[in-house]
Amino acid sequence: MTRSLTILGATGSIGRSTADVVLAHQDEFRVQAVVGGRDAAALAKVARQLGAKFAALADEREGDALKQALSGTSIESGAGPTAVLEAVERDADIVLAAISGTAGLAPTHAALKPGRRIALANKESLVCAGNAFMADARRLGVEIMPVDSEHNALDHALAAGLNRDVEKAVITASGGPFRTWSRERIARASAKEASAHPVWSMGSKINIDSATLMNKGLELIEAHHLFDLEAERLGVLVHPEAIVHGLVQWSDGAVTSGLALPDMKVPIANALRNQRRLKMDLPRLDLAAIGRLSFERPDEGRFPCLSLAKAALKAGGALPTILNAANEIAVEAFMADQIRFYDISEIVERVCSTFSGRNIPAPATVAEALGVDQEARQAAGHLIPAYAEVTRL
Ligand SMILES: NC(=O)c1ccc[n+]([C@@H]2O[C@H](COP(=O)([O-])OP(=O)(O)OC[C@H]3O[C@@H](n4cnc5c(N)ncnc54)[C@H](OP(=O)(O)O)[C@@H]3O)[C@@H](O)[C@H]2O)c1
Repeated sequence: MTRSLTILGATGSIGRSTADVVLAHQDEFRVQAVVGGRDAAALAKVARQLGAKFAALADEREGDALKQALSGTSIESGAGPTAVLEAVERDADIVLAAISGTAGLAPTHAALKPGRRIALANKESLVCAGNAFMADARRLGVEIMPVDSEHNALDHALAAGLNRDVEKAVITASGGPFRTWSRERIARASAKEASAHPVWSMGSKINIDSATLMNKGLELIEAHHLFDLEAERLGVLVHPEAIVHGLVQWSDGAVTSGLALPDMKVPIANALRNQRRLKMDLPRLDLAAIGRLSFERPDEGRFPCLSLAKAALKAGGALPTILNAANEIAVEAFMADQIRFYDISEIVERVCSTFSGRNIPAPATVAEALGVDQEARQAAGHLIPAYAEVTRL
């Protein structure tokens, strides 16, 4: 049966890998709509490749460029928030949500429609508004399939038993580009060095989050919402080869895990076609050729963002929303070479401690979450100039 599909973030790293999966299985998928941020030429290209019916750009100013780039085709287009909303409203069995950052929350939430499947890459939707998002998904009968390789692996491993028998669910981290660097060397690292991920080829924001290990922290919060597991039953293991993506340790000591070569097309294919596996023409895992897999504990001294995220998950309330917002502002400033690497964790920590005294409850709606998010962004934004001043000296 052919399924209709809408891709949010179609021009990004996950979006392009999704296009590859779809192009290899054109009999399985019919692309309804594609959504991008501001790159009209890239969106037109993917819309043409996939034969999409509708293309929407978030940036209103690029609407004419998109129209121009699609001239001579029957693909309709639009630009601005209304056009993005139109794209998610259009009839589609599956919506693959891969906009980067909290910008993905509103469109991904708007995509929750009865009977749909959401293939979820945008972890920030759950970090910012996990309770509200999952409650709405459950109420509307929407199936959420994780695209993150770790959560995709956990999803399958967890199917081998009952939630109450899970002792620990562990997600792995490659360790990022600074895994073997000293703290002193990391402190001087540039945005370019932080972007050079040793294993995965990804978008700019998640690259920096991987270097700080905040990405793993965000993934713990994501796992908490996806699998209904509290902080104490979630863990992180550094695994540089990125072959074992997730492990579940059961109450009898047995462990179930999910393995695959590190290629996002594997979890994407699975999230698009749950239960029935697609045939993927990708290199196969040859454990004998690899010979050895290594594991180590994460060093939260050199990577304090991980402990900040763990603390936010444990504390609950609105702290994950606040942590996520402060992190986005600090990462933007780091990518613009305004602040230094460890300023990211310092800014996140300062914003979290400013808010923690207020004991703000977990946002009950997405609108509430976006309100808290805005407040935390402002608080982080106020801190940047002082750090930027020190960086300039
Ligand atoms: N990359 C990975 O391997 C990976 C793995 C697991 C999870 N994820 C998650 O997947 C999400 C996407 O990551 P990525 O690496 O694919 O990011 P990316 O390469 O930076 O792509 C981001 C996509 O979002 C679009 N976009 C940005 N702002 C937008 C807005 N306001 N409205 C609509 N579209 C917007 C971009 O369009 P323009 O290009 O036009 O700006 C682009 O299509 C993130 O949440 C990330 O954590 C990624």
